[in-house]
Amino acid sequence: MKALVLVGGFGTRLRPITYSLPKQLIPLAGKPMLYHVLDQLPADIEEVVFASGYKADVLERYLKEHPLRWPTRTVPEATPLGTGGGMRNAGAGLSDPFLLLNSDVIAEIDVPGLIRLHAERGGVGALSLSEVEDTRPYGVAALGPRDRIERFVEKPTPEAAPSHWINAGLSIWRRTVIDRIPEGRAVSWETEIVPGLLSEGVFGYRCPGFWEDAGTPERLLHAQRLLFDAGRGGPSRLPPGSSGQGPVASAPTVRASGARLGAYVHLDSGVALGAGSFVEDSILMEGVEVGPNASVRRAILGPGVRIPEGGLVEGHVLARESLP
Ligand code: GDD
Ligand code: MG
Repeated sequence: MKALVLVGGFGTRLRPITYSLPKQLIPLAGKPMLYHVLDQLPADIEEVVFASGYKADVLERYLKEHPLRWPTRTVPEATPLGTGGGMRNAGAGLSDPFLLLNSDVIAEIDVPGLIRLHAERGGVGALSLSEVEDTRPYGVAALGPRDRIERFVEKPTPEAAPSHWINAGLSIWRRTVIDRIPEGRAVSWETEIVPGLLSEGVFGYRCPGFWEDAGTPERLLHAQRLLFDAGRGGPSRLPPGSSGQGPVASAPTVRASGARLGAYVHLDSGVALGAGSFVEDSILMEGVEVGPNASVRRAILGPGVRIPEGGLVEGHVLARESLP
């Protein structure tokens, strides 16, 4: 079985950090978003194919420097082709069936269970589903007998939403579905293609575990808390000389003598925290410097950001380029 991973989109809701980095490479709980997403894949996957758009070169370089456990291949798009267009563009040489993954969903999905369900029920595909309160930003499924999907509506108004079960962003498809996608233009898989496939049998696989789309600052930090709580943030490690409870994911090169750390913090390599500073519920990327007695809460700080002595940062996404 091969896996096709959609790695596009401009990450607009995570600007300004995404001006220089695809959102999938933003780290949380110890490693980039994409690497947490792929943790869900079984070990015996034959190849992982990345349909990549925005900043494809940055992704390719990162993958080369931090190899995954499976063979990988990236198929870039000259212009963004949307989810369906990206699938079509990268669709040659996939397995039958293949797994399809969004690259921004942090979740607990039982992938072997999804594969089994598809083998048992047949049809052209099966979608893992998660139950959420607010369905507006997602694709929503109406389930019939045997969990067959009878209707699929992308981003419905609350009145139009047929249920609270949403496309969790990990699915399995027969290879033939790729031929349904028109070539050479941007196509939304969820809006233009999936509804037309339902008559051929698409099943829903309800997943009770945690789930979050990490595409906005608030949800990215929530995803980090979920990962830490589930023990998927690696062993909590306070940098030498610092104090606090954790959980904290800290690179070995972090300097933080005399700093205090609250819960749910990611500290990337080269981060320096001044004496008396405090960091909580935040992501500090490579080389971030927090001055003495400064305080950082619910923030995502891009590479090289410097917070001055005594500074107070709360609820912000900052990149070095965006600072005075
Ligand atoms: N290759 C490629 N090209 N990938 C793309 C493009 C593109 O032009 N546009 C988006 N993607 C990738 C994104 O990186 C993401 O991994 C995935 O396709 C879905 O795009 P998003 O922009 O994140 O969509 P969404 O979050 O609004 O909705 C999707 O995900 C929900 C779950 O998080 C849909 O699949 C919904 O049905 C689903 O519920
Ligand atoms: Mg998304």
